[in-house]
Amino acid sequence: MDIFELLKKDHESVLSLFDELEQMEQKESRKKSSRQDKVFNQLKQEIEAHTQGEEELLYPQLQEDEDLHPMILEAVEEHHVAKMLLGELGGMPEKNEQWSAKLTVLRENIEHHIDMEEGELFVGAQEIMESKQRKELGDRMAEFKEEHMAASK
Ligand SMILES: [Fe+2]
Ligand SMILES: [Fe+2]
Repeated sequence: MDIFELLKKDHESVLSLFDELEQMEQKESRKKSSRQDKVFNQLKQEIEAHTQGEEELLYPQLQEDEDLHPMILEAVEEHHVAKMLLGELGGMPEKNEQWSAKLTVLRENIEHHIDMEEGELFVGAQEIMESKQRKELGDRMAEFKEEHMAASK
């Protein structure tokens, strides 16, 4: 599969996991639910595998490009913030209002990041990568994600 198609699908599933978590919060505020834990862990795994895959497989192909270079630097910092917030959220025993506020900030950070990737970075990248290379990279990314998910279970 084309790497950019795969990454956009991941973005969609991350956003729908956020939706799911937010809906649960409205219904079961203050009550700790194992279903919430499950969805949160799924979100965490998905984001960790996706960002690590981008950093190991995609970004190195793009960072030498003069126009894309500054975007890559910012993208890595945004990944860093996301992973930091995920770690903090994962370490909080109670899903209280501070937890919800942190989750909202994480979502905002990620939405901004997705807009930047899909609106600018991937557009620029598609211009410098041939379709064969995009497909090969997509296959490697799918494999990478599978291994990462299996290892973190
Ligand atoms: Fe991404
Ligand atoms: Fe990213």
